[in-house]
Amino acid sequence: MGGDDETKGKNHAFVYIASKDYAWIPATLLDTDKGKAHVEVPHYKDEQSIVCDGGASASKKTKEWVDLKKYPNKVLPLQNVTGGGQLIEYPDMVDIPFLHEAGILFNLKLRHLRGRPYTRTGDIIIAINPFQWFTELYTEKKQIMYSNRLVWESTHTEQDPRRGLEPHVYEASALVYRGLAFDREDQSILVSGESGAGKTETVKICMNHIASVQKGRDIKSGGEIDPVVRRVLNSNPLLEAFGNAKTTRNDNSSRFGKYTQLQFHRPEDEMAGSIDLANTICKLAGSKCEAYLLEKNRVTGHEDVERTYHIFYQILAAPDAEKTKLWDGLKGTDFNSYKYVGDTDTKKIEGMTDAQHFEKTRETLELIHLGGDKYTMLMRAILVVMQTGNLTFGPREGDSDKSDCTSKKELKGLAELMGVPEDALNKAFTERTMKTRGETYKVPQDAKTAKESADAFAKEVYGKLFLWLVSGINEATKAEKNFEGGGLASSDFGIIGLLDIFGFESFLINRFEQLCINYANEKLQQKFTEDIFRSVQAEYIEEGIALAEITYDDNTDVLDLIEGRTGLCALLNEECVRPKGSDEAFVNKALAQNKKSPCIVVNHMDRMSFGIHHYAGKVMYSAEFFVVRNQDTLPTDVEELMQISTNEIVSHVAVDNEPAKAKPGRQKSNIVGKTIWTKYKTQLATLMTDLRKTTSRYIRCIKPNKPKKPSVMEHVGTVEQLRCAGVVAAVTITRSAFPNRLDHAPAYRRFLPLKPAAAGKADKNDIKALLAELMDSALASLVQGEGENTKKAYVIGKTKIYFRAGAMEYLESERLKGCDKWAVIMQRVYRGYCVRKKLGGINGYKMQAKAPKAITIQCWYRQLAAKFKLGRLRKKHKEKKKKAKKRVRAAMKIQACGRGYLVRPKFKKKLKLMKERERLKKLANDLEEKVREAEMKRLQNVEAAREAAENEIEEYKEVVREELKSDKEKQKKYAQQQTLIDESSNIIEFLRRENTKLKNQSEGMRKDFKELKDNNKRLQEENEAATSSFTALNDHAKQLNVKNAKLITNVQEYKKKLEGLKDDLKEKQSYYIAEAEARLAAQKRMAAIVGTIQDKCRDPQLIEDAVIMALECEAEAKAERAALDAQDGKSAPATGTTAAVADDDSTDYGDISSDEDSDDDSD
Ligand SMILES: Nc1ncnc2c1ncn2[C@@H]1O[C@H](COP(=O)(O)OP(=O)(O)OP(=O)(O)O)[C@@H](O)[C@H]1O
Ligand SMILES: [Mg+2]
Repeated sequence: MGGDDETKGKNHAFVYIASKDYAWIPATLLDTDKGKAHVEVPHYKDEQSIVCDGGASASKKTKEWVDLKKYPNKVLPLQNVTGGGQLIEYPDMVDIPFLHEAGILFNLKLRHLRGRPYTRTGDIIIAINPFQWFTELYTEKKQIMYSNRLVWESTHTEQDPRRGLEPHVYEASALVYRGLAFDREDQSILVSGESGAGKTETVKICMNHIASVQKGRDIKSGGEIDPVVRRVLNSNPLLEAFGNAKTTRNDNSSRFGKYTQLQFHRPEDEMAGSIDLANTICKLAGSKCEAYLLEKNRVTGHEDVERTYHIFYQILAAPDAEKTKLWDGLKGTDFNSYKYVGDTDTKKIEGMTDAQHFEKTRETLELIHLGGDKYTMLMRAILVVMQTGNLTFGPREGDSDKSDCTSKKELKGLAELMGVPEDALNKAFTERTMKTRGETYKVPQDAKTAKESADAFAKEVYGKLFLWLVSGINEATKAEKNFEGGGLASSDFGIIGLLDIFGFESFLINRFEQLCINYANEKLQQKFTEDIFRSVQAEYIEEGIALAEITYDDNTDVLDLIEGRTGLCALLNEECVRPKGSDEAFVNKALAQNKKSPCIVVNHMDRMSFGIHHYAGKVMYSAEFFVVRNQDTLPTDVEELMQISTNEIVSHVAVDNEPAKAKPGRQKSNIVGKTIWTKYKTQLATLMTDLRKTTSRYIRCIKPNKPKKPSVMEHVGTVEQLRCAGVVAAVTITRSAFPNRLDHAPAYRRFLPLKPAAAGKADKNDIKALLAELMDSALASLVQGEGENTKKAYVIGKTKIYFRAGAMEYLESERLKGCDKWAVIMQRVYRGYCVRKKLGGINGYKMQAKAPKAITIQCWYRQLAAKFKLGRLRKKHKEKKKKAKKRVRAAMKIQACGRGYLVRPKFKKKLKLMKERERLKKLANDLEEKVREAEMKRLQNVEAAREAAENEIEEYKEVVREELKSDKEKQKKYAQQQTLIDESSNIIEFLRRENTKLKNQSEGMRKDFKELKDNNKRLQEENEAATSSFTALNDHAKQLNVKNAKLITNVQEYKKKLEGLKDDLKEKQSYYIAEAEARLAAQKRMAAIVGTIQDKCRDPQLIEDAVIMALECEAEAKAERAALDAQDGKSAPATGTTAAVADDDSTDYGDISSDEDSDDDSD
């Protein structure tokens, strides 16, 4: 109930709450407050035991709060129960007062457990698969009962002939017949549901019933069945043999969709407005069938626990004689002889062995004129498929790009079955013909590709033979050809269509096939919604309610997304035509071009995936293989091979109910064919057009549990199927404006406790007026708007009262409160009555009135005697009491003394203890007080410290802010300095290099100088030696005149040499001086650089480094020069110039400790 104030309080209503594990569970509402509900939840043994019984069979109960925001209209759905909480069963859910998902679930569950598989909601029959055969439900008697009640005995003007009839699929079959016969309108029954839900069984049950209805009113049991009817009915098992297979979900699963049109011959002379039962019998004249989306992949592979199509097992289980008659190669084979078939542990399908089924298939084929040669051809086409599965391919010797069939025996067998040359067969799989402009050439295929081609071939052959069979059945059953020798046109017959089509699918991974299936379901859902809308419209018109009240959402957006101009279908086809089309490109385009669609879901985690918001919920699709699967093409070589086969089914190009092959969809030379999607879309469009020409009834099949057990219902699975089947959507539409409704009388009775005291103006015989008066007062607080725009919370129709959202819940809660009040009054009256009765009041007076006088005297005497006796007894009693009192007082005194004596020491001890405790308590209190004070102080200190710290932090923050500001400037300066440092580093590096160069030069000069000095010394020594020789010669002049003259010449020559050496020395000295000057200049330049550094650089360390380096260079230079001078001074007087230069070149670098101040000096 709502969280609003009006509904707040104790009301104890029976509600449902949402559950993750069980979808919905019953609970009792205890209270509501601030958008939350307080509920008591009974716990049952297991899911099956969960029922609505007010918690009577629950093992325990717990209380919890639930958030009302998660519930529609912020209201907990109410249970449809009796006052004691027992669920009420509704055969027709239109009658349910509180119709919602939970209500539907529990009503269906109750009926399922009671063995009633069919439930109605308006024109929809919900069929829960019982997984057990209720024979009594399908007896001939039942069939006749339904056809008589709904067709032959009902009058045309009767409003709803189903009233009082238990829901059944027979009602759908009877009503479509009635519609065809009496309303002269084509009809259809659309059966849907998930795999294993019972669609095919339901269609068969309906078909059998229709065949029985058409026999007319006086059906006689037994007798000859009309051959056309027999053929029509037998066509079902035949299609099942070829199109059904065992899957994990259903042992007899139809792997194709089927629309069967039963054709009826209608009497021509129908008299307008009147019903002539003798003339309205429509006779079943034939049938036509269309198949959709056969699962061809199953031919080449299936899960281990599953099986391929039944027909394969049937052929292999046939008697050996029959097998050899079909083909010698079949002799002695079993399931394991064929790779596509394989072993199976399923020995029986629908209670019959494969061998028995084979016999039936053979007979039926004969019945529908597919016996003899046609039968052999069909069976051999199946053998072609089986044999193809046994082909193996391996690489050709020395070239793995080429391949050959390695199973020669199997190839030979296949060639024989197909009637084609063995070599051509091998080549068709192992080579591919490529065509360019005017040129054709063969490209070899590797073993893997060859095997793929063979598989594609097998699938294609099976697809063809299936369609051939459908076409054969149609030929044998269609009315235009078979009814009374033919001659009538197809349009001359009335139609009852029966659609058995795959329900909405959503698995963990959803592929191209799921998209196709869900697309079909969207198309059908569109029609379903329209039909429901129309039925609601009809109901409102009937009840006299404004149509503007109905609102509903349709699924146009989803259909636009799938089949629109830039929808998924168009984009996928486009991608299949593109030479390099890919799944990923398809997804990208689909997302990009439909980004505005509210139904598309983008998967950001996976680029190969996308999702669609279907009417039944969100489904994510994996686009892997979308392009390949949509093409479903066959290599031209294989196609050409098929065309030369002697088996006409294999060589057949197109069959009747296959859309004509159009020109190549993909512009590649070797691939042909329309896309699957295009064919399917065209087929669906035709189906929808056909269906729209009919009046439809719906049967929604539900699989109540996965393990296929009888009397078990899994809540979550059932609710999901109800959503997918559109049942919930249908309820939403029907209840969009008025979720709850009741007939006038029950509504008045139910809410009578809310009748106002002042009521009574309305006519007592007019239930509608009484109800209006009652509701006006009870729902006054829920009226919306004013004046002309007033919107009451209810509307009264001709037979029902309709309540807006929340109104019924409000009334229920008020009713319970009202009931409480009445219950209290009733209890009071009853209790008073009981008490009075007990006291004899009422009966006593009555007796008095009737008693004779003797009794009166007896009464008087007895009364008197009793009074005396009473006086005596009272006196005695008084005395006794007095004595007893005295005794008691004495005893008490004694006891008191004794107890006092005994207790006193204990009391004293206790008193002492108490006093001590008091003292300690006080002490503790004092201490506590002190502690509290200390704590307060501490807290104050802490607070003060915190404040101080905060202030400090604030200050610090301020400082930091300032620093940050100055930091910015510093950073700027730092950047400048960094530039200077970089420049200085470059300069220093340059100076270092220069210094090294100068050092090297000085070294060279030092060497030269030393050489010169050595020469000089030697010359001096020689000169000295010559001078001494000259003196000796002079001494010996006289003796050695000739020698003297010679010596003089020698001396002169030596002198000349000396002069030359001196010149040499002078030249070297001048060179040295020039060098020294250059060095001086360099030093000056260096000094200038250092000066600049000192000037501009703010890094004292750098300045210091630069100055030190410069000083080191200078010191080095000086040391060298001093060394040179020292040597020079000894050797030649001319070195005086150098000394002067050396004195001069001492450079001032300023004071390195005070770099800022020394700027001017360094300049
Ligand atoms: N009315 C019924 N009474 C008893 N059993 C039923 C009924 N309907 C279906 N079943 C059981 O359920 C099984 C599955 O039913 P059916 O083959 O009709 O399912 P389906 O919906 O056609 O599944 P699929 O989509 O796989 O073809 C049947 O083989 C049968 O055992
Ligand atoms: Mg089926």
